[in-house]
Amino acid sequence: MNVEETKERAEPRAFTPKDDLPEEYRKAATRMLEFHANSEIMGAYLERPFIRKAPSLERKMAFSAKTQDEIGHGQMLYRAAESLGIKTREEMLDDLAEGKGKFLNCFHYPMDSYVETPMIAFFVDGAAMRRQATLKQSSWEPYAHAMDKICFEEGMHVKHGESILRELMNGSRKEQQLVQEAFEEWWPRILQFFGPTDDQSTHHDFASAVGLKTASNDELRNSFLNRYMEKAKDYGLEIPDEPRIRDNGDGTYEVVEDDLDWDEFFTVSKNEYEGSIEQINGRKEAQEAVAWVRNMMDSQVTTNDGPKQQAAD
Ligand SMILES: [Fe+2]
Ligand SMILES: [Fe+2]
Repeated sequence: MNVEETKERAEPRAFTPKDDLPEEYRKAATRMLEFHANSEIMGAYLERPFIRKAPSLERKMAFSAKTQDEIGHGQMLYRAAESLGIKTREEMLDDLAEGKGKFLNCFHYPMDSYVETPMIAFFVDGAAMRRQATLKQSSWEPYAHAMDKICFEEGMHVKHGESILRELMNGSRKEQQLVQEAFEEWWPRILQFFGPTDDQSTHHDFASAVGLKTASNDELRNSFLNRYMEKAKDYGLEIPDEPRIRDNGDGTYEVVEDDLDWDEFFTVSKNEYEGSIEQINGRKEAQEAVAWVRNMMDSQVTTNDGPKQQAAD
């Protein structure tokens, strides 16, 4: 198939690894999937410390389950990316550890305090749900298929984040104030989660023409705002004055996109933000710490008939 034929045939779940797809499609799909997979992994590393730091056994167990879910999402998406034949999972993981792999802006910032955790688990996962629900309609079938499982689990992550937010906002005045401060710090980043405005998004046109994406960054951002502005207010959070939010008077909202710091966003997206290096090095150290496990499993798969048979199954 050439690019024009691919565009004509693009519909939800239209293409599988058996299809003869143009290089341009396979590269664009790999870029999207690799970015998504890297983001799942890097998000998990931000939340992992709260398996210890969360204040109750119930919360610790929830963070443990969520961290495992996110790592699992990453692995599923690396497999869906690998099936495009451009890069292997190992190459993508190595690129991430070397600082060459790109990932979501929100996961470049440190998250030190428990009061910040709903910013990721409620707002960022809520934003992720907006985007991921549309990716069930992606033309790359392995991507859309992975989204069936991932969206189911993300729904529980949002409930977990919402439960922490509700508890903290019903807590002491000090807790409420700390959550408000965390919200003011994270809110602009969360609005940038969806990426640059449509006119600055370099990859949007092709990805949307071949059905990899089915909604634009601005559509998703607005859809998130329409739902989460009210939720934030219901829990007693005050929406910051900056960036300005336009109230369209019909239950819909839009952010004044010029009020967001796009210079910082593009610095972050090139892994050049001051916090990026720390997050990437954390991942690199973790990868190196368990290299012996991978090496041992690889040697079992290639030298021992028993595990080889199991691995093939
Ligand atoms: Fe996830
Ligand atoms: Fe999640």
